[in-house]
Amino acid sequence: MPSNDGYVGAEQCKTCHNEIYEEWKSSGHSKIIYKPSNGNINIPLPEGYSVNEISYVIGGYKWKALFLDKNGYLITSTSRGDGRNQYNLKSKRWVDYKAGERVPYDCGMCHTTGYSPEGHQDGLEGIKGRWKFDGVQCEACHGPGALHIQSSLKRDIKIDRTICIRCHSIDPLDAIPVNDVFLAPYTEVNQLMKSKMKKFKCVNCHNSHRSSEKSIKQSCESCHQKIALRYENSYMHRVGVKCIDCHMPQAGLIAEGDRETFTGDLKSHLFRIDHTKKFPFFIKDNEKVNPGYLSVDYACIRCHNLYEDRERMSGFAMVAHKIKITTNIKIMRLQMVFATIGFLSALIAMLSALSLKGWFWAILKKKTLLSVHRNSVWISFFIYLFIATLCIYFHTPLDNPAKIFNLGWFLIHPINGISGIVLYSGKIISVRKFKQGWKRPGLIWGIGIFIFWIVQYMTVILSFFNIVRV
Ligand code: HEC
Ligand code: HEC
Ligand code: HEC
Ligand code: HEC
Ligand code: HEC
Ligand code: HEC
Ligand code: HEC
Ligand code: HEC
Repeated sequence: MPSNDGYVGAEQCKTCHNEIYEEWKSSGHSKIIYKPSNGNINIPLPEGYSVNEISYVIGGYKWKALFLDKNGYLITSTSRGDGRNQYNLKSKRWVDYKAGERVPYDCGMCHTTGYSPEGHQDGLEGIKGRWKFDGVQCEACHGPGALHIQSSLKRDIKIDRTICIRCHSIDPLDAIPVNDVFLAPYTEVNQLMKSKMKKFKCVNCHNSHRSSEKSIKQSCESCHQKIALRYENSYMHRVGVKCIDCHMPQAGLIAEGDRETFTGDLKSHLFRIDHTKKFPFFIKDNEKVNPGYLSVDYACIRCHNLYEDRERMSGFAMVAHKIKITTNIKIMRLQMVFATIGFLSALIAMLSALSLKGWFWAILKKKTLLSVHRNSVWISFFIYLFIATLCIYFHTPLDNPAKIFNLGWFLIHPINGISGIVLYSGKIISVRKFKQGWKRPGLIWGIGIFIFWIVQYMTVILSFFNIVRV
């Protein structure tokens, strides 16, 4: 097929390489650019546009989508005015991308197969260059396949294990540009080259035909066995924090992120964390660039940003693989059970006290009510005494017993039981499920503490007045 310079398209490879074809088809490479039709579009279109008014959809697989108009230019204004032209998948929000500007599509070299910079695809003046097939198809990496589909011979098709560099890097290769606090996109190669793992290629870890989550061939643990063993005994391992949660945080940004918690949306390939340094960047040729490592801001603050600061995290980061909390988890669970009983009896004490005062509907006789009140007060009192004793015991570091006089923890401890249940389950769920940090559990925790203190104070005050009077 000389008219197509030997390119035949992925559909032609399906017959003999069906498994690879199916994997590739469900990965991002196959979906980066396509012509929309009523059947294949599963994201919203910019306001005021119908499928017929859009020539190509760009992306929409993992992070964001942009759209080209009938002339091949990026759509930068909608029926609502300028902007609101980029659709972010995770937040399901429309944001501005070069609002109102006239932007040609000159991105085909990384998004298509059989690209050449001359001419205009489909004759659309907004598109720079032409290509044979939409998306990163088999032949974008393996070269034209016309000969091979007839001969089925190895020598008629090529494999280049360094091909990724063509699209996952930007020039110059020895610098990693930083936008605000985030690593620039398309810089995986630039990043990997700064790491001690630079001798590996992308394909040492990735199966090139699969989407990233399903593509990992070799786990971190398989090479770093010593560290993996050490980490197995740590607390964070138990709650489900993985190597890549710290070593490959989303330090890059392609669509949307939160600069306060250093959380972008593209996983870093720098791997190295340096706990001694602050937010890492320096200026080179008037550009912010990353020197080749991440600080604890990226590695830890994303998850630990509610009550912890970077100083505390830097302290722990030195021993990140072997953090064990001072209290045994089983004892903490026991404590939670006791604390719950303590809380419930404090609640009963408060309600019965209110009832004794006549401020609350009395179901029981006054005498019964009084004994309920007294008993529940005693129960909660002894439970908290017991818990406090346990806490003092476990929180007195033998190497620094003076810490016992730090009353901060002592004062908030009685409430830890009940709030702990909320806090820990919330945190663990959010790590395992949402990976979004602690904002929501933190709020619940806060409200929990507030309610708890009110119950505690009310009980003490009411008990005092009732017991004196009755
Ligand atoms: C008619 C069947 C057939 C079709 C169609 C076909 N292949 Fe193959 N392909 C084979 C066979 C058979 C081999 C194994 C050759 C060997 O081991 O000597 C192979 C091997 C390969 C290899 C490995 C080469 C190597 O050096 O190990 C690649 C890459 C490849 N095919 C890509 C493609 C692509 C891309 C397409 C579509 C453009 C395609 N194939 C279409 C039959 C086919
Ligand atoms: C150097 C090659 C390269 C160039 C040039 C390039 N891209 Fe990309 N694009 C990528 C890669 C690679 C990704 C995947 C993210 C990553 O690995 O950093 C991507 C991802 C995207 C995505 C997100 C896809 C998704 O599934 O959410 C959009 C949208 C996008 N690019 C638009 C553009 C536009 C518009 C241009 C031109 C202004 C452009 N790109 C230029 C390589 C490139
Ligand atoms: C992003 C680039 C890329 C794309 C797209 C791609 N491949 Fe590959 N493919 C590679 C690389 C790199 C290797 C070598 C992998 C290795 O050695 O670890 C490879 C290996 C292969 C092999 C031989 C080894 C094996 O895994 O069996 C075949 C066959 C193959 N590809 C076929 C295809 C077909 C068919 C498609 C399209 C459906 C395709 N590839 C799409 C990069 C790509
Ligand atoms: C040491 C192993 C390793 C190497 C080498 C490596 N990666 Fe990755 N990569 C990973 C892991 C692990 C993930 C996360 C997979 C997941 O989402 O669970 C990942 C994710 C990605 C993602 C998706 C990012 C995201 O935020 O969803 C891209 C793109 C990527 N890698 C490209 C590359 C490229 C290009 C290279 C070569 C420069 C490369 N990787 C080298 C291990 C590696
Ligand atoms: C022709 C350009 C091109 C080449 C070559 C290329 N990529 Fe990509 N890659 C892209 C683009 C564009 C995206 C964004 C796809 C999307 O999100 O729809 C991407 C996305 C990815 C992703 C994340 C998307 C997913 O499906 O999870 C991984 C992982 C990845 N590439 C790995 C590789 C590896 C490994 C190689 C080398 C074997 C490679 N890429 C070669 C352009 C390329
Ligand atoms: C194929 C084996 C292999 C795999 C898989 C692998 N590593 Fe490595 N890693 C190495 C080697 C080898 C070194 C270099 C050690 C040295 O030179 O001191 C290294 C170095 C590192 C370093 C130190 C980097 C620096 O610049 O200081 C970190 C951190 C790291 N790896 C984390 C990871 C993580 C996280 C993963 C999983 C995504 C992973 N590694 C997967 C082999 C591997
Ligand atoms: C809680 C976050 C966290 C987790 C989880 C984590 N690491 Fe680390 N790791 C760090 C920090 C922080 C450093 C750097 C310590 C320093 O600055 O001295 C580090 C250093 C390293 C190093 C280089 C220094 C050395 O000790 O050789 C390697 C390799 C490494 N980690 C691999 C891994 C592997 C493999 C896993 C999973 C089994 C893992 N890490 C899990 C935070 C983590
Ligand atoms: C993916 C989220 C995540 C990341 C990233 C993470 N942690 Fe954690 N960490 C947790 C969870 C969940 C717990 C258990 C709940 C708790 O005690 O707060 C925990 C517990 C801890 C604890 C013990 C409890 C305490 O506060 O005394 C320390 C210390 C700690 N992490 C330090 C670090 C350091 C240092 C880093 C960065 C190198 C880090 N963590 C990165 C999720 C994370």
